[in-house]
Amino acid sequence: MPKLVIEGAKQLNGEIKIQGSKNSVLPILAATIICDDECIINNCPDLLDVHTSIEILKYLGCKIKFENSTLAVDPRSINRSDIPEYLMRKMRSSIIFLGALLSKSGNAKLSLPGGCELGPRPIDLHLDGLRQMGFIIYENHGYIECKSKYKLPGCNITLSFPSVGATENLILASVKSSGITVINNVAREPEICDLINFLNKCGAKIKGAGESTLLIEGVESLHSAQHSIIPDRIVATTYMSAAAITGGTLLLKNISVKELDSIIPIFEETGCLINKKSESALYIESPSRLYPNKLIRTMPYPGFPTDSQPLIMAMASVANGTSVFVENIFENRYKHVGELLRLGADIKIEGKVAIVEGVKRLSGANVTSTDLRGAAALVISGLAAEGITTISDVHHIDRGYESIEKNLKSLGANIERKN
Ligand code: EPZ
Repeated sequence: MPKLVIEGAKQLNGEIKIQGSKNSVLPILAATIICDDECIINNCPDLLDVHTSIEILKYLGCKIKFENSTLAVDPRSINRSDIPEYLMRKMRSSIIFLGALLSKSGNAKLSLPGGCELGPRPIDLHLDGLRQMGFIIYENHGYIECKSKYKLPGCNITLSFPSVGATENLILASVKSSGITVINNVAREPEICDLINFLNKCGAKIKGAGESTLLIEGVESLHSAQHSIIPDRIVATTYMSAAAITGGTLLLKNISVKELDSIIPIFEETGCLINKKSESALYIESPSRLYPNKLIRTMPYPGFPTDSQPLIMAMASVANGTSVFVENIFENRYKHVGELLRLGADIKIEGKVAIVEGVKRLSGANVTSTDLRGAAALVISGLAAEGITTISDVHHIDRGYESIEKNLKSLGANIERKN
């Protein structure tokens, strides 16, 4: 199994162009099956999760072309509405095909996606919402079977929690209903807005992107569209953390600065200087030693994103003082802590709370990736650690980061992928 090998304690400096957003392209690829002609997706990142989505699209019968960050999806030869277990288990977010299949053909049979490293990852909010819309849903033998007797009228739904995936599934399931669907307490992440923008380009009638309530007027059909995926705000934060932990500087290009509004103050609290060059470029200059973050609470957007918690925790592990994290979104998102301790970090977990006592210097060790952003935290820590850090199970990283070692090498890191 390939590993990443890092010789740390090297300052990173330079500039980087940020890839398209994984969490935007995945629901948009699912949405393409509802369209009645070929869609062109630009700025599509080359990720393991994108290739898993392509496998699912091909299984359903789509024709796919993917080159130079442009992915063409032709859904005209789709001939099935089921997704088997071996595909559903490859990627937890494959559940997003449920809503798209229901709009495509009014029925869907999917294996349950199963849990992941962050906890059981239930889908009760997805299924409750779909039942409120009128879909008949059976769950047995590890499969979900959904059908609707006829074109469903719109309805009024309120999510008990602004779940990103549930919001996306309910949007996808209601775009071709025969009435108006109102969904309250939806997630407001930029990736949801990107999905809505794509669907509206295809002829959908969705109002309220970025707000807590969406109004979706069902339409007869969706035509094709060309769309460019928004930048990945979590990947942007990852490279900012890599520069900050090594005392370096970084110019980030092709980002959306406004989507980092909850992140920038966190970096400034650690002593980093942030210069917003434009709406799509930012320059970060870090101090020789970081200051701690007094209190970081993960919240739904526009609050501090849970995906960035492991990244900032890596920085906190070498800060000059005590940082406190409260993980409010996932029930098991501290699995990277055990591996950070192997690098010499001083972290105590008490339920949702993590208390990080910054140490002067981490020291290289063999560590194992636990999940996508946990693995990114190990890379960030390895870049700062004295000596050699070997990170195994790098498939976690490849799910969400395009050419991470090439990008880090271009900034001065000593990092190799070894089999
Ligand atoms: C999306 O996951 C993202 N994934 C996650 O990013 C991100 O961490 C998460 O949103 C929160 O922002 C994609 O977009 C592909 P949720 P999702 O439904 O949709 C509970 C990454 O690293 N919940 O908002 O699965 C759930 O267990 C990944 O890129 C229910 O209880 O997140 C969790 O505790 C990791 N029942 C919380 O809500 C449900 O039916 C948030 O989950 C659904 C969710």
